Amino acid sequence: MTPMIRPRRLRATPALRGLTAETRLHPRDLILPMFVREGLSAPAPIGSMPGVAQHTLDSLRAAATEAATAGVGGVMLFGIPAERDGRGSAADDPQGILNVATAALREEVGDALVVQTDLCLDEFTDHGHCGVLTADGAGVDNDATLDRYRAMALAQAEAGSELLGLSGMMDGQVAAVRGALDDAGFADTALLAYSAKYASAFYGPFREAVDSQLTGDRKGYQMDPANRREGLREVELDIAEGADIVMVKPAMSYLDVLADVAHASSVPVWAYQVSGEAAMIEAAAQNGWIDRQRVIEESVLSIKRAGADAILSYFATELAGWIR
Ligand code: PBG
Repeated sequence: MTPMIRPRRLRATPALRGLTAETRLHPRDLILPMFVREGLSAPAPIGSMPGVAQHTLDSLRAAATEAATAGVGGVMLFGIPAERDGRGSAADDPQGILNVATAALREEVGDALVVQTDLCLDEFTDHGHCGVLTADGAGVDNDATLDRYRAMALAQAEAGSELLGLSGMMDGQVAAVRGALDDAGFADTALLAYSAKYASAFYGPFREAVDSQLTGDRKGYQMDPANRREGLREVELDIAEGADIVMVKPAMSYLDVLADVAHASSVPVWAYQVSGEAAMIEAAAQNGWIDRQRVIEESVLSIKRAGADAILSYFATELAGWIR
């Protein structure tokens, strides 16, 4: 008699399941995105992102220390300036909120976790786009924006950022920033390229988080959600231009792209569980429709299983505490 094949044998006990798990999450796999706002006197909760706040410099330090204590691998900083203009002047001002906060965090946490910064103009422009506009105002001027990114990169590196997150989706941005850093003696500052970044409705709550001024959309520079192969093309270009790490964003609706990229990439691959993904989990959990902790664990584990080496998640500190 042919024996029945019984995969259930390895599911019989927690110990067997633990020993045969193909994927494991570790606190070091997690990166916490954080918001710091100029001129705040107390942390300001973000309505569509329960548990997430715009920080003051002091509350930012405290939250980063909490993340480090939980074993989280890094933080990604976003700054919200008091004043905005067409070219996003506050972005490369050494006294701009993002740069001041970066220096403060390096001082606070040292090397306990990796301090990273968002390198994009959308938080700093009065029109909310990720770059400067063309003369007729109809679109974003790619090459003029690269000059702004070079200046931003130098300001961020000077402030002590260890890894610059290029999230603007301009062509040639990795090479432009790499060249500027190398010329200025910042050869050791690393670049995280948001390579396959899609024009996604899942960024909705983030717009509230940074008080975004955007009307319209980013379809002229971020990727079309219909495109899978193009994700690989963007990754190949960014690696050729000098990206140290590449990213796929959002995560959960783009796990096919993530799996492709993880297979093809010669550099680490990260993914971003974005604001809308977190908001859906929180909303369903608040209604009692899902088990919040289990869904958070499963969602992040799935992103790792699909091929992410590390995951940006608003749940990073809390999740690190559960899985340590
Ligand atoms: C751009 C940037 C965005 C996010 C991260 N970096 C917004 C956008 O591209 O529209 C979204 C992250 C999230 O939704 O959690 N600076």
